[in-house]
Amino acid sequence: MPWKEKLIIALDVSDADYALELVDKFGEQIEIYKVGLELYTAAGPKIIDEIHKRKKRLFLDLKFHDIPNTVLKAAITATRLGVYMFNVHTSGGLEMMRRCRDSVVELCLKENLQKPKILGVTVLTSLSPQILRDELGIQHSLNTHVRHLSALALKAGLDGVIASGHEVAKIKSHCGESFLIVTPGIRPSWHPPDDQHRTMTPKQALREGADYIVMGRAILNSDNPLKTLELISLEMLTA
Ligand code: C5P
Repeated sequence: MPWKEKLIIALDVSDADYALELVDKFGEQIEIYKVGLELYTAAGPKIIDEIHKRKKRLFLDLKFHDIPNTVLKAAITATRLGVYMFNVHTSGGLEMMRRCRDSVVELCLKENLQKPKILGVTVLTSLSPQILRDELGIQHSLNTHVRHLSALALKAGLDGVIASGHEVAKIKSHCGESFLIVTPGIRPSWHPPDDQHRTMTPKQALREGADYIVMGRAILNSDNPLKTLELISLEMLTA
């Protein structure tokens, strides 16, 4: 897969016009954009249509986490929006993930829609092993927890998971090579981690086997996003 199909830009801004300005600025360089809580809350589904009009694919990162019925209804709505991928929290449990996936498959067959890839959020990249243990009370290791949640997503029929670069190789060996892994928390060597704990450079993450990497602030907040993107693409080419 060419590098630009592996890089997802997180449009973490609250202004729809600015988001579209960025999409236009990156032009042919970027194929997939992520719309998350900030932009979706500000701009609603209209922003999805606008990005689709520009022939880009969309990752709707709303991390659905609720009772099975609520999540499957939201999943149906996301599917009708025509997004390329969306996600749910694996900690919502097996039934929630399975009913979400089954409802989407059924809808796509019935209405002849393209099935979006459904991904399970494992452990947020902003959480450290200490936070997982001391604040969330999970007593086994972070790696074991991520592996367990990934196996649950696989059992529910999801297409893959969101996980940090540090867990990619273990998930692939446990769940199979074709199980997709989308990796946020990506930082070029020159950029601080911000609120992320389990970070990795683009090159490292791709070498570990991530199918897609997500980058937001390291590109969007730089003085020259196009130049930064060029540097990152050069790094990705050597992975
Ligand atoms: O700015 P930065 O590159 O850290 O942005 C990462 C993006 O990926 C954010 O939009 C964040 O919500 C999202 N994300 C994440 N960790 C996850 C899932 C999604 O950082 N486990």
